[in-house]
Amino acid sequence: MTKRSVKIAPSILSADFSNMAAGVKRAEAAGADMIHCDVMDGVFVPNLTFGFKMIEDIKKSTRLPLDVHLMIVEPERYVERFVKAGADIVTFHIEACKSVPETLAAIKAAGARRGLVINPHTPVDGILPYLKDCDMVLVMSVMPGFGGQKFMPHVLDKVRTLKKIAVEKNYTFDIEIDGGITIENASEVKAAGVNVIVAGNTLFAAKDMKAAVEGLR
Ligand code: DX5
Ligand code: ZN
Repeated sequence: MTKRSVKIAPSILSADFSNMAAGVKRAEAAGADMIHCDVMDGVFVPNLTFGFKMIEDIKKSTRLPLDVHLMIVEPERYVERFVKAGADIVTFHIEACKSVPETLAAIKAAGARRGLVINPHTPVDGILPYLKDCDMVLVMSVMPGFGGQKFMPHVLDKVRTLKKIAVEKNYTFDIEIDGGITIENASEVKAAGVNVIVAGNTLFAAKDMKAAVEGLR
């Protein structure tokens, strides 16, 4: 595995919301591969963040792809608008969506990459029928809603299962992990089959973000 085969996606949930452009530029200068944007609605998760306008504004301050993680109910109502706002990848939770195939198709039709997210206690089984239509699968390793939580190692079994299926069926979806990733646990996460690492606290709390990005790689 080459160094570059793992992509690093800093989560701006840990950045200063009153100066988002600075946080995004800092991540870019540190060698990030994409910017992970956490959209929360206060219903699907017990926290609120931002919507289309923030994505639009972030888009103006970086050339990096925007990886937009929707933690909202009825994501099907909003995916097109997030793509229009500048999302390059849109992921939504299987737990929050009643029309998964239509939502995946809507993201693709709007011109972005599509992904499904599963919570730490959601089995892989429910997403199996949709894997052939996914560009990314995001496995949550904390309960969504907040940064800085502790990594739940049991989710790595799901990563291994997904990796095995991808190899067997020749699927090309990325496997992303989100929540509690540190320089210490990054190796086992990568060994399990993850190729996109989201990190909020580990990167934004680092004195030297570049060194932290390299540490995660
Ligand atoms: C949690 C978010 C994450 C969060 C990760 O609901 O989806 O993206 O920012 O933060 P850390 O890396 O600090 O756990
Ligand atoms: Zn996230």
